[in-house]
Amino acid sequence: MKSTRRPLVAGNWKMNGTSESLTELRAIAAGLNSDRGQNFDALICLPATLIWRALETIENDKLYLGGQDCHYAEKGAYTGDISAAMLKDVGATHVILGHSERRANHFETSELVKAKVQAACQAGLTAIVCIGEPLDVRETGGTLDYIGEQLDRSLPQTVNFHNVVIAYEPIWAIGSGKTPASEEIAKVHQFLHDQLVRRYALAGSAIRLLYGGSVNPTNAQNILSVANVDGALIGGASLRASDFLGICDAYRKI
Ligand code: PGA
Repeated sequence: MKSTRRPLVAGNWKMNGTSESLTELRAIAAGLNSDRGQNFDALICLPATLIWRALETIENDKLYLGGQDCHYAEKGAYTGDISAAMLKDVGATHVILGHSERRANHFETSELVKAKVQAACQAGLTAIVCIGEPLDVRETGGTLDYIGEQLDRSLPQTVNFHNVVIAYEPIWAIGSGKTPASEEIAKVHQFLHDQLVRRYALAGSAIRLLYGGSVNPTNAQNILSVANVDGALIGGASLRASDFLGICDAYRKI
């Protein structure tokens, strides 16, 4: 059965995009002006350098804009870093935290992710907290233990529907064109939902659970109709308006 949680279709542009790319963003916003934007939230997490300009160029209150990381501290001597308050200041509403690319390339631990989630919540942003297992863990049947621990350690004591969204992104599915079978996604999302309810009771049951990893317009309808999947986190396919809107379309068919 589908949950009653409001779906979120979120794009992650990663380290892609200069001011020229705002043409695609405008096309996404324009596409959402129709009834596509009505029964789900749409978000694009941009490189921080583009957020301000993006907000000036889109005339649309149905497309949220977010960042892709923030520092755990409010401010200070952290050359090159960006605080949650800075993202909020330029108009971001969300921030992706603990993406596997940051966990791998920047050695981010779940404890660090948790500190960042706290900073994001403090600044009034919604944190999209990513978890997901590598291939060897999956192949030895350790997925639930692995992501259960990540979930537990990456989240602070108080979370709710407004300040946290969870994205389950199997690392082997990111950018690979491979996705888990619907039954596998259903099993993981049921597990995550149960964990959140166990820890946070009613507040936990309202938290949205996104699936991420090779979502495209062709597989979106199947994936988004799985029980406890409340939306998607989309990398490659969010860079083109037609692909992103094609994925959003899935919500009109479910
Ligand atoms: P992908 O990336 O859609 O290109 O697989 C997803 C992600 O990394 O969030």
